[in-house]
Amino acid sequence: MRLEFVENGPIRVEGKRFVVRVGEREEVLERPRLSLCRCGGSGKKPLCDGTHARIGFQAPGGVLEVEEGD
Ligand code: FES
Repeated sequence: MRLEFVENGPIRVEGKRFVVRVGEREEVLERPRLSLCRCGGSGKKPLCDGTHARIGFQAPGGVLEVEEGD
């Protein structure tokens, strides 16, 4: 799994199908990528809704790669 930390923005996850569970709510999203909020300001947490740009969120970009081990 690869997570991309967008400079001054969300965390992007690539895939095909995402199941998002928050409390009792479950949502299935079929798309090539998902953006997760890391600024704390989204009204659609855990998803990014673009609020980071409006509030001037700043954070460096980067990548986290998760390797499956034995
Ligand atoms: S990172 Fe986009 S709304 Fe928080």
